Amino acid sequence: MNVAVLGGTGKTGRAVVAALAQVGVSARPLGRSAFQDLPAALAGADAVHVVAPNLHPDEPAYVASVLEAARAAGVDRLTYHSVASPYAPAMPHHLGKAVAEDLVRRSGLRWTVLQPCAYVQNFVPALRDLPAAPEAGGELAVPYAVDTPFGLVDLDDVAAATAVVLTTPGHDGATYEIGGPALVSVADVAAAASEVLGRPVAARRTDPDAWRGDGLDERERTWLLAMFAYYDDHGLPTGPLPLTALLGLVGRAPRSVGAVLRRDLAGTS
Ligand SMILES: NC(=O)c1ccc[n+]([C@@H]2O[C@H](COP(=O)([O-])OP(=O)(O)OC[C@H]3O[C@@H](n4cnc5c(N)ncnc54)[C@H](OP(=O)(O)O)[C@@H]3O)[C@@H](O)[C@H]2O)c1
Repeated sequence: MNVAVLGGTGKTGRAVVAALAQVGVSARPLGRSAFQDLPAALAGADAVHVVAPNLHPDEPAYVASVLEAARAAGVDRLTYHSVASPYAPAMPHHLGKAVAEDLVRRSGLRWTVLQPCAYVQNFVPALRDLPAAPEAGGELAVPYAVDTPFGLVDLDDVAAATAVVLTTPGHDGATYEIGGPALVSVADVAAAASEVLGRPVAARRTDPDAWRGDGLDERERTWLLAMFAYYDDHGLPTGPLPLTALLGLVGRAPRSVGAVLRRDLAGTS
């Protein structure tokens, strides 16, 4: 089997390519240069997995171009990496994925949609940057509430579930919400980090008005501030059962926040 992975050179795509390789599937990572001649880039693939770059300005157009190219290249199986709660009109980048999901469902291809919650890994760089001295405490600071619920999920589990969907039967026409094993808050992430690192880590909400978003353009800043405001009020609760069922097909269970941090921060699993 040969899978073309759009966005395959990015953070999510690389994890999917690695998960496919682990189960013996040949994966073709495709970045932005593939869009110069997308049908040629997809030719010969048995399936295409679509990951849009983070905060793409027009995700429906990105996905529409992949659907058209897949049809032209004769690839009839497609999986789409969306997001949990895509129809959240307050968050423009979620709404773009809701519109793109509709295009996928009406594409005439055999499709599956995956809707992952935010990754546990999003917190790892900040936790790695905490002071090294064991007696020094640390802070996990985010510009939204630290007690709202999320179905935070291990990116490696999302990738493994994607590989399951692409390599086992029964997923055509399915939409899977992909949440980790429990609803957790940023305060819970800080508590798990305290345990793994053996020193206190406190969660703190910072003022979103003071958040700078270095390196982002104005649209990207605005979209992320909209996401922080949504997280502040609602978090991003996401159910655990579809991921549990998908990984169960290959004898695995989803990892908890603590297990991800033990592996990614402490190097133990
Ligand atoms: N982070 C999370 O917690 C989370 C949770 C759920 C869903 N998601 C979604 O997952 C998706 C992937 O996120 P990510 O952080 O892994 O993405 P990313 O690292 O930003 O993706 C980069 C990939 O997109 C390609 N790319 C960049 N600009 C492009 C363009 N203009 N046209 C075509 N391809 C382009 C890059 O190709 P080059 O290498 O050639 O630059 C690379 O393959 C996003 O849509 C995000 O919303 C993220």
